[in-house]
Amino acid sequence: MADWHCAGNFDDVWEGVPLAVTVGGQEVALYKVGADVHATGNLCPHQKDVKLSDGYLDGDTIECPMHQSCFNIKTGKVLSPPAREDIPVFQVRVEDGKVFVEV
Ligand code: FES
Repeated sequence: MADWHCAGNFDDVWEGVPLAVTVGGQEVALYKVGADVHATGNLCPHQKDVKLSDGYLDGDTIECPMHQSCFNIKTGKVLSPPAREDIPVFQVRVEDGKVFVEV
């Protein structure tokens, strides 16, 4: 069952720089885009020991650092091969300067 967990301080998530966190036992990547924070699973579905938080964030797209598959951080949809599976996305809310993720 999903539950809300504090993932850290809003100010610790930098614009354009993915941040790896562990929330509720899950590896999650946080992305700040403007005033919003988005959260996805942090492991690339193509090779699950590769962290998307080490990749390149361009707008709403995260590019895997290993083979450059791209994913939409809002929908989780895979946008380019070699990965074929989508990544999980998680609900985020910001409250009192803290980021909460539902996992
Ligand atoms: S490990 Fe991510 S695309 Fe291959």
